[in-house]
Amino acid sequence: METILITGGMGFIGSHTCVELIGAGYRPIIVDDLSNSSPQILEGIRRITGVSVPFYQMDVADEALSQIFMEHSIDGVIHFAGFKAVGESREAPLAYYCNNLNTTMNLLKQMGRYGVTRLVFSSSATVYDTMRHVALTEETERGYCQSPYGWTKFMSEQIISDFARAHPETAAVLLRYFNPVGAHESGEIGEAPNGVPQNLMPFVTQVAVGLREKLSVFGGDYDTPDGTCIRDYIHITDLARGHVAALRYAQENLGAESFNLGTGRGVSVLELVQTFQRVNGVEIPYTIAERRLGDAPMYYADTQKAEKMLGWKAQLSLEDMCRSAYTWQKKSMGLL
Ligand code: UFG
Repeated sequence: METILITGGMGFIGSHTCVELIGAGYRPIIVDDLSNSSPQILEGIRRITGVSVPFYQMDVADEALSQIFMEHSIDGVIHFAGFKAVGESREAPLAYYCNNLNTTMNLLKQMGRYGVTRLVFSSSATVYDTMRHVALTEETERGYCQSPYGWTKFMSEQIISDFARAHPETAAVLLRYFNPVGAHESGEIGEAPNGVPQNLMPFVTQVAVGLREKLSVFGGDYDTPDGTCIRDYIHITDLARGHVAALRYAQENLGAESFNLGTGRGVSVLELVQTFQRVNGVEIPYTIAERRLGDAPMYYADTQKAEKMLGWKAQLSLEDMCRSAYTWQKKSMGLL
């Protein structure tokens, strides 16, 4: 059984990936500083899988990370740890560059020191020039990121690629996520943002349960069919399974390779809201508000490369995403 170190494993994507890894026969170990997550997640993972995942509360940028590599024989790493709030990154760019780049660099340093050669990195579609391109392939022009957060993903990809070139025994997979939403079907784990949710789905679920009065739809005058922005929303369980496929790929292929993880389907803000209302039988009051800084009108993934080379394809629907997100919201509040 292979042991996989999951940095940021207590977060939204990390926790769902742990569940899928366990299901696929891997043994995950989590390192997370709990700066944006709660230790209760471990209990959620245990309830779903029956497995108590070893957990280290630690900053991945800390030299003490080497302790984990000493104590375990690690076969591969999935690197999620990082700050992720786009707006906050514009207010505190240095914090984002320091944290997101130092974690990546310290991790690579320790991997090199302990001879761990397999890495899957949590990147984002934000590395593409989304203002000028719509159907994004892995070859689409990158850069012109809309926030320091986006640049940290761009730069981490560069650092990892350079590392892989200098150390030819490295197998690195850069996964560029589109918009992960939804929750595990059990409702045991999900997305738990601190404070006012900045992303669409958690805001919608909080309106649905009455925690917030109404949704502000950022911009109704974009050049799209209904005037609202179009994104490629992907179910978190599909996304998590993409990491299992990436680990398998990295077992057989050296170098650094990037893949889009999306569905290939563009969905507008209003289409998501309407689908949520329909499948959950709940009303989401909304108003059309000002456009939000840095929002691209429309982009979605070209998923052919992941399908061909990873043998992975998203299976779950927008309905599944809306249903599971609502179930999680209610369950996390003790309403179910
Ligand atoms: N939106 C609203 N109201 C809200 C929140 C969002 O109308 O309260 C709209 C946004 O304007 C956008 C869409 O919903 O059109 C999706 O917004 P999100 O904030 O959920 O997602 P983004 O596409 O802006 O951001 C996502 C990831 C980021 C990543 C970015 C670029 O959350 O991590 O894609 O890839 F950087």
